[in-house]
Amino acid sequence: HFAKVGRVPGDPILGLMDAYRLDPNPAKLDLGVGVYKDARGLTPIPHAVKLAEQRLVDTETTKTYVGGHGDAAFGRLLLDLVLGTGNRLEATGRAGATQTPGGTGALRLAAEFITHNLPGRGVWLSDPTWPIHETIFAGAGIKVAHYPYVDATNRLDVDAMLTALEQVPKGDVVLLHACCHNPTGFDLSQDDWRKVLEVVKARELLPLIDFAYQGFGDGLEQDAWAVRLFAEALPELLVTSSCSKNFGLYRERTGALIVCAADAEKLTDVRSQLAFLARNLWSTPPAHGAAVVATILGDASLKAQWVEELESMRKRVADLRRGLVEALQPFGLAERFAHIGEQRGMFSYTGLSPEQVAKLRAEFSVYMVSTGRANVAGLDFSRIDDLAKAIAKVC
Ligand code: LMR
Repeated sequence: HFAKVGRVPGDPILGLMDAYRLDPNPAKLDLGVGVYKDARGLTPIPHAVKLAEQRLVDTETTKTYVGGHGDAAFGRLLLDLVLGTGNRLEATGRAGATQTPGGTGALRLAAEFITHNLPGRGVWLSDPTWPIHETIFAGAGIKVAHYPYVDATNRLDVDAMLTALEQVPKGDVVLLHACCHNPTGFDLSQDDWRKVLEVVKARELLPLIDFAYQGFGDGLEQDAWAVRLFAEALPELLVTSSCSKNFGLYRERTGALIVCAADAEKLTDVRSQLAFLARNLWSTPPAHGAAVVATILGDASLKAQWVEELESMRKRVADLRRGLVEALQPFGLAERFAHIGEQRGMFSYTGLSPEQVAKLRAEFSVYMVSTGRANVAGLDFSRIDDLAKAIAKVC
């Protein structure tokens, strides 16, 4: 049966985790997969999460299935977090959240919804984007196309993006990164977002906003600005929300597909389709991570603690960015890499070539994605000078 089954290359991002683990060099540095690390090089469990978990251990009474849309309290609280407390859409029954296994599950569910319920629509991705965006939509049988996001020198190119979006067939889906663009780290300004919104309206596009890093850009509320702008201005919107990074819940697979529809009746139609599709994908979602998030967001003091912890992670990454640019100064490279200080979130499109990335790995055991994407959140202040030296060597 399996004689004709071939082999595919390992995942370009997760594969780096394995390679790093096997590297015996004590001075190795992992800037690959997008996870936050503290000064000890560990990906910590936030204290608010630990406290919520303890509360759940003490009070949880059942492990029976959650419903097709997941934990209802989680859904409500996540809508508040994403769309803003007391937002009009929720109040009028125009927005709903379907709990999914992580942000990736939300993307997969969105892809199934598009292919089954909006047949013939293409999906437009930024070039570049997270590689799994490409394979998820293609895997669901959807035509995938691209709009430019950076120019030849790897800087954000909003004009090229807008020009390309103006040519997108009416009704197609356009995937946008709410903040902390993966892989580049370049985010749109508020002015840019308004311009994108105009094109979306003119071309009657359906935006799918991927919101995997809420709280890692400029702050929890600030990062939601574009999502809220679109939700207010448009009758329909899809948002994939992830709790992996901001709650440190990576392996608990916690996220949601948020749908905004023209009215409550239409939202109910769409949600019936999502429940049907989810049933065929994973039946019902894993409960633990969502219960943790609902416990935190539903308790003022746990929430305040979580917000503070998230804010300190965000600030640390921003400081690491500035620190790296400063450390490149003595090598005459501060200007060339100034964009690292301007980008947002965990990732930086460094502009290093695949050859330079390969050299960094072979000679210095520094791991980053071959496209030149570095996870700045994997760095530590004690390692900044070593990294700057290594970058200078390969440049
Ligand atoms: C990343 O891009 O590194 C993260 O989104 C983690 C992942 O699943 O790839």
